[in-house]
Parts: sequence; C-alpha cells; structure tokens
Amino acid sequence: MKICNFGSLNLDFVYRVDFFVKPGETKSAKNYSMYAGGKGLNQSIALAKAGAEIYHGSMLGEDGQFLKETLEKYGVDTRYIKSCHEKSGHAVIQVEDGGQNSILLYGGANQVMTEEYVDEVLKNFAGEMLLLQNEINEMPYIMRKAKELGCQVYFNAAPMNKKVFDYPLECVDFLIVNEVEGKELAACDKEEEIIPELRKKYPKMSFLLTLGKRGSMVYHKNRFIRCGAHHVPVVDTTGAGDTFIGFFMATYLKRGSIREALEIATTASALAVGKEGASDSIPDMERVRKVIEKKCLGPLKVEEI
Ligand code: RIB
Repeated sequence: MKICNFGSLNLDFVYRVDFFVKPGETKSAKNYSMYAGGKGLNQSIALAKAGAEIYHGSMLGEDGQFLKETLEKYGVDTRYIKSCHEKSGHAVIQVEDGGQNSILLYGGANQVMTEEYVDEVLKNFAGEMLLLQNEINEMPYIMRKAKELGCQVYFNAAPMNKKVFDYPLECVDFLIVNEVEGKELAACDKEEEIIPELRKKYPKMSFLLTLGKRGSMVYHKNRFIRCGAHHVPVVDTTGAGDTFIGFFMATYLKRGSIREALEIATTASALAVGKEGASDSIPDMERVRKVIEKKCLGPLKVEEI
C-alpha cells in the first residue's frame, strides 16, 4: 500500500543549552548543529526506515535542496515535491541538558501550498493512505479532497493550535496526539479522559495517544491497547514522536497488528532519544528488531484493557 505524506520540510538549527533562554536573557549556546527536520520530513524518513512505500508531498524552498536529498538518501520518493521561490521552513531549537526541547518555527515554503498543487499530488493516491501533520497550509482542503478520493487519513495534530478545531476532522480516520494536544482537543484535564472524550466527539475515529515516559495507548476497532515505555538515558527528545508515528504506521499497515506496531514504535523512539537531532536520530528497522529480539532495553508491557 502506498502512503503519501503531505508534510513540512524544515532546516533545524539546534542549540544545546544548560537551561532554556528566559525572557530578557542573552545566553551562549554550548554547541550548534544544523539538521534536516520538520515533522513531515521526520515522519517520512521514519516510515521509509520502517519499510513503507512512502511518497512525500511538499513545496521546497530555494535553500532546501539538502532536505530533498536527505529524504532521497533514506528511500523516500520525492517525485511530487515542487520547488518554489520562498525560503525553506526552519526551526530554531534549544535542547537543554535533560534532552527536552523548545522549538520556534518559521513556516516559509511549508505555508505556500495551493489547491492546484494538492490536486496534482493527491490524484495519484486515490484509495491509498495519507499522513498529515499540522505544519503546512491548505489542511482543510487536503483533508476533504483525500476523503473524496477514498484515502484513509492519519492526522498527527502537532503542533496543536486553534485552527485544528476548524478542520473537517470527520475526514480523519486515525488521530495521533500527545498528552498536551489530546487534552486540548478533548477539552479535558486528565490523561485518562482523553480517549473517552475524543470518542464522544469523533465516534468513528481511531486514536493513538503518545504519553512520553508513560508509554502510549491506542483505541482502534473497539479495542483499547496500552503499551509501556522503555526507560533510557535521554540526549535529545526532538523527533522521537515522529519516529514513533512512522514506525507505528508502517508496521501496522504491513503486519496488521496494533500490539506489534506499538512494540516496534516504542523501541524505535527509545533509540531515537539517545542521539542528537530529529531525522538523524531515527534508527533502522534492523536495529530496532535486534534490540527487541535481544531484549536489550528490558521487558515492555503491551496489554489489552
Ligand atoms: O517534531 C520535531 C520537529 O518539529 C523538528 O524537526 C522541527 O523542525 C519541528 O517541525
């Protein structure tokens, strides 16, 4: 099955700091690196590394050749990426010593999609899978068009903002959120209320809720499955959620098992947090499988509740 990921491409400027810069403060970074990033790019690479047939749809900024080459290096099909006269999207990322990040985004080329371009790409994916995040424009049009074409739509509502409430979410089949995004969309305060509240609002949807160190949960086809997490030393959490999503989606679509998809995704993202950078930290499937086989990260609880 083909997957089209209509998603962002960002240049990630990553600064290592002891603590995040406070308002009014000037601070020197301990280290600086530039990586290929963007939730779209990271998720496409994770899908490719997990063995999916993945096509990326996006506008490419004038300074973005490196982003396209990075996708190609990992086996993502870039034939639908179109160049434009904009600066590439970029992210200014502070990573503090505990591995947490703080991200400032500039949309650039990610925000100049047109309906014509969306049509041009999507017509090649009728009846296939579509993955979306929330870093590009034309989201409502893409969702509606995809449904018209009979696509199955996976939507990662990240970064969460008010616009999401106006999207035609009835076109989404699988909604993917973390705890913060989930609470906002479900309008609730407690983690355990997120999926029940989302089910009331969107009764036909499936949900993947990622909870960082507390694991993840899936509600799909009347089944609730909960998965734990591996507790590993953290270098940089940037892109760990994207890694999770790519490995989860690729494995579920290939193998049809939510349990296996959760186990693989959890292991892949545990490996990703051990390395700096977003796309650069995504492991290969072979490594993920070896780590699971040899139980290198210890046991992982996956249970139906
Ligand atoms: O999810 C991580 C990504 O968010 C980074 O690569 C950055 O570009 C932002 O889009």
